[in-house]
Amino acid sequence: MSESIYKKNVKSHLEAYLPALWLEGFGNIVDLKLTKDPKLKGATDAIFYKVRASTEFVIKFGLNDVPKEKKGYRILKNASKTFAKHLVPLLGETKGIEDEGLNKAILLTPFINSLTLHDIVSNYQRITTKTWILKVYSDYLNELRLLWTKTKKACKLSLKDIYFKRLSSRLQEFKGKKGLNRSANLILKINGKTVKIEEKIKPSIQHKLENFENKVKYSCIIHGDEHPKNILIRRENIGLNEKYWYLIDCGNALEQGDWIFSIAKILHWWKVYFAIENAKKRKDLNGKVEKISNNTLKIEYDENSFRKRIPKICDELYHKTLKFCKQVNKEVFLEPASVWQERLKIALFIILFGAVTRHLDKEKKFAIPFLIGESFRFLEGL
Ligand SMILES: Nc1ncnc2c1ncn2[C@@H]1O[C@H](COP(=O)(O)OP(=O)(O)O)[C@@H](O)[C@H]1O
Ligand SMILES: [Mg+2]
Repeated sequence: MSESIYKKNVKSHLEAYLPALWLEGFGNIVDLKLTKDPKLKGATDAIFYKVRASTEFVIKFGLNDVPKEKKGYRILKNASKTFAKHLVPLLGETKGIEDEGLNKAILLTPFINSLTLHDIVSNYQRITTKTWILKVYSDYLNELRLLWTKTKKACKLSLKDIYFKRLSSRLQEFKGKKGLNRSANLILKINGKTVKIEEKIKPSIQHKLENFENKVKYSCIIHGDEHPKNILIRRENIGLNEKYWYLIDCGNALEQGDWIFSIAKILHWWKVYFAIENAKKRKDLNGKVEKISNNTLKIEYDENSFRKRIPKICDELYHKTLKFCKQVNKEVFLEPASVWQERLKIALFIILFGAVTRHLDKEKKFAIPFLIGESFRFLEGL
């Protein structure tokens, strides 16, 4: 074999081996240089090179959220071996690095050159086929079902903690940030329709949740934020094996979660959030929020043109998820239809309405009228 072929083989070996060794297989070696060094010479004819390598990977940094995310990652990883294959390992996790500073602050998800399922669905005609997306999505849903089934436990879930507390705290936060009177009941006038959220909607949700407490019989381990922007697929795997997806952002994982919450996290995206997320780049969504008294907000936006932004493929994915939900209930959770359906509506409403407080800064506040307006539609029906 000539030396240049040796060199090529050594290079490709290193390109595969170094990421596997150092980066759990998720980083890339991008710039590998082999040079001869006259000092490297043995007694035999063996050839020596000096190697210089550059690498690329992604890190997520956040002082407060890292411990939460690590805990979530461990919950999911330990829950199921098959599910663990779809998680991006934390760098250092499997190597047992116990450096305090390092472990507290940095979350490494060495995963480059990837797109989220959201990105792929947004541009699918240019990069892949609908058939492939549906295959990946089926595999994803199937893995969620396996995780839930495997970790299902007979247990009384505190629906109040999961849903009602979230609504109450986000409402208070919103009122505070908008300079509304915190102790007066908030009233919304949405495209001309009056909605008494605290006087009517909140008590009715509370009442329904109390009613469901004895009817929801199981909890299970959930990821808790399983929407399509948290699913990553490497560019080079698009169009290939449907099992090549990864679920990131594990900070909301729960040992005792409600599977309907997970369903709602997915559904709200296909039905509404997809368009909001894409409008963040285009900056072309316009609505109005006007404070007309210290407890009343007037909200206006064009509902029809907003809904037209949701492409057909999202509708398909939405209905596929709903069908999946029915099936999972029939096979695994065995709840009366009224219990899961009503709970799902409440979950969808609270997830979307609750997202308002995550959109208060200048760049994102365009989303508020749409989040509020569309959230109430979930309470009407699915
Ligand atoms: N390892 C990664 N490789 C490529 N993109 C990533 C990676 N981690 C995150 N991203 C991108 O950054 C976004 C935010 O990351 P995520 O962990 O979901 O943070 P957040 O908690 O802010 O949602 C993801 O939706 C994805 O687009
Ligand atoms: Mg995320």
